[in-house]
Amino acid sequence: MIRKPKTTVTVSAPGKVILSGEHAVVYGYPALLSAINRRIVVKVRLAKSLQVSSNHPSTTHATMAVKRILEILGSRNSKLLVSIDSNIPVGSGLGSSAALAVASSAALTKLKSKFWNLRQINEIAYRIEKLQHGNPSGGDNTISTFGGFMWYRKEVEGFKTFLQVKIKKKLPDLFLLDSGKPKETTAQMVQKVKEYYLDKPIKVRRIFQEIESITRSFLKLLLDEQEISLSELINENQLYLERLGVVSQSTSELVKIIKRNGGAAKITGAGGYKAGSGMLLVYHPEPKKLLVFAQEKKLTISRVRLGEKGVRIEKES
Ligand code: MEV
Repeated sequence: MIRKPKTTVTVSAPGKVILSGEHAVVYGYPALLSAINRRIVVKVRLAKSLQVSSNHPSTTHATMAVKRILEILGSRNSKLLVSIDSNIPVGSGLGSSAALAVASSAALTKLKSKFWNLRQINEIAYRIEKLQHGNPSGGDNTISTFGGFMWYRKEVEGFKTFLQVKIKKKLPDLFLLDSGKPKETTAQMVQKVKEYYLDKPIKVRRIFQEIESITRSFLKLLLDEQEISLSELINENQLYLERLGVVSQSTSELVKIIKRNGGAAKITGAGGYKAGSGMLLVYHPEPKKLLVFAQEKKLTISRVRLGEKGVRIEKES
């Protein structure tokens, strides 16, 4: 029997939160990441010309990513209709651009070459992220590709080590609270930290070392190796991120109130300095209090599930 070639592929990839280690990870320190229950769906089918339609606010950005992937695949003149549907907010620290790169490279390689190779998908997505951001650690695309919880480290540019973490402790309910959209892009925040690092290398290295120690404690907590307070880990981590200069005044104030009310909060990605700092990962031993607080302050909040599946095929026909 001759099988009809597939002409439509639908793929989805998750967003992420960084539990600990953002920014430090760009300098070779480890990070702990988790895939979350927000996904981007990319559907690719044969068409008369190349068209990209997207609910992802920047269709130009999506079109650029698709064109670059096709070039990498040596299929520059492909005639395809690429439809993108995302529920990962853009520019909020949840890895939306990495998820777009992962889902698009997965859908396009699947349709073009029929292969499904996660390492290759991740490698292409990393190349796209580099063109987009300049100097990413590669953590965001790797967690979006492989999913779950991950210990990640960029040893040198061409060699990254990462391992999925099988968690042994059930985490309590965690929430995403919107501190407002950052005015800066991820690339600008990474550049801001770089300038600080060049100016005060000893100070910044010390901050990175403290963050690494928190990341290791977080790993021990996930592996249930040690009794550690989740609140303390989150709050301490946030403190060092504030010292790095990636948290705005208004976000710091917001975090202070959450802490005063018995909770803990940290940014989940690159942060933001002038206005909002993106989504905060928030823990509160009494979640109801947190929900009431968010309602009173008219802040968007939702529960987040961690350890979600990485990139996957949703449909082929
Ligand atoms: C962005 O989600 C996380 C940063 O550490 C940058 C990166 O890892 O590429 C700020």
